[in-house]
Amino acid sequence: MATKTNQGATVCVSFCPHVAGWPFLMWATFVFMVASRWAAKGRRMFDLLIKGGTLPNGQVADIGIQGAHIAEIGKIEAGAKRVIMALGDLISPPFVDPHFHMDAVLSYGLPRINASGTLIEGIALWGELRDLATVEDMIGRAVTYCDWAASMGLLAIRTHVDTTPDHLRGVEAMLEVKRIVAPYIDLQLVAFPQDGLYRVANGRANVIRALDKGVDVVGGIPHFERTMEDGAESLRDLARLAADRGLMWDVHCDETDDPLSRHVETMAREVTRHGLGQRAAGSHLTSMHSMDNYYVSKLIPLIAESGMTAIPNPLINITLQGRHDSYPKRRGLTRVKELQAAGVTVGWGQDCVMDPWYSLGTADMLDVAFMGLHVAQMTHPEEMARCFRMVTEDNAKIMGLQDFGLRKGGLASLVILDAATPTEAIRLRPDRLAVVSRGRVISEKARNDARLSLPGRPAQVRRRHS
Ligand code: FE2
Repeated sequence: MATKTNQGATVCVSFCPHVAGWPFLMWATFVFMVASRWAAKGRRMFDLLIKGGTLPNGQVADIGIQGAHIAEIGKIEAGAKRVIMALGDLISPPFVDPHFHMDAVLSYGLPRINASGTLIEGIALWGELRDLATVEDMIGRAVTYCDWAASMGLLAIRTHVDTTPDHLRGVEAMLEVKRIVAPYIDLQLVAFPQDGLYRVANGRANVIRALDKGVDVVGGIPHFERTMEDGAESLRDLARLAADRGLMWDVHCDETDDPLSRHVETMAREVTRHGLGQRAAGSHLTSMHSMDNYYVSKLIPLIAESGMTAIPNPLINITLQGRHDSYPKRRGLTRVKELQAAGVTVGWGQDCVMDPWYSLGTADMLDVAFMGLHVAQMTHPEEMARCFRMVTEDNAKIMGLQDFGLRKGGLASLVILDAATPTEAIRLRPDRLAVVSRGRVISEKARNDARLSLPGRPAQVRRRHS
């Protein structure tokens, strides 16, 4: 008997009528088992096989994907319906953005540009736009942005949704966007009382209405309440709300240059009180840049004790903060390295792309890491590598993403970059040669080396150097 496997291997099993009894049966069983295993091995066929990529830890490996999951990592000799050759290219888990405002994305210039470039004028402009924009407008802009994100390997985003207006059109739009992109992007929504929980008539009621409609995370903005006392009370109120509902909590906390603002301290206290731990994130935390060092030496241990995470947004805060300074101008970034040294999980957030607060942006989390690296002066090789982990693993931890990372059995979501190492990826912010979401190739880009026309010089230039 001869069996042809789908790999072309041929397995022969002889039947001998002259041999009988137990020895024959044992021999026949042995031959059958060996032949079956051989045939089964030959039959191994992945849906997608990525050959020869370099993982962020430097390991060179093949990745075999079956359905939506990674079936194998290592040296793989098997067939596949599709093979991608990634020889020498970096294969990374997807990028993650834990802080964004998708209801405002791609609205730059509507209803007019932010002439002063300040946070306050941005909030005022958005206050006009959110009442002019239709649900369809917001869905259209957000889904277009998600196309950008998919092409850049950005496959998980936490977006704050303004719950201030009673019409809650932003909430309605973002819930629909979440449904549309669910097959390829994890979108988490935060109920964000942009104009304050108590500063507007229905601020608190609308946060609750948004959560009841299915928004995932409780937000907050204590520094925008009328007084420091109101801000502190809003934090106590919102922490209770998150704890009672078993939800995560992510607060725009002290996005100011005020060295005396104390909301981070209050937030850490409430996180500890309710045991929220890593389910709570402090976003921005820019006041910490301006605080007295002695006070910070007390504050950082309180943050670490609480277990809360931190999300600085370097692209935005390097432009928004320090606007009241002459010289020197404050950078307005929280104390990233000091928080990390204390054991706090710190990610990098993007915050905005082409909206009332920020006129640029590309959906590239490597742009965010690049800026963060510079502003936080994270230039040691270990710090640069950490900046890459911040926009992948650490951000995933902040969002509480299950099944994240390149491992056997994990979700088959990954990015192939035209770079050799994580640090080189930050330096080059290179093309995403392929993006795979849950086993499906959702975006591809041909390698695009520059062609030189210089006598005696190479014909092509790639700028990779490692
Ligand atoms: Fe923000």
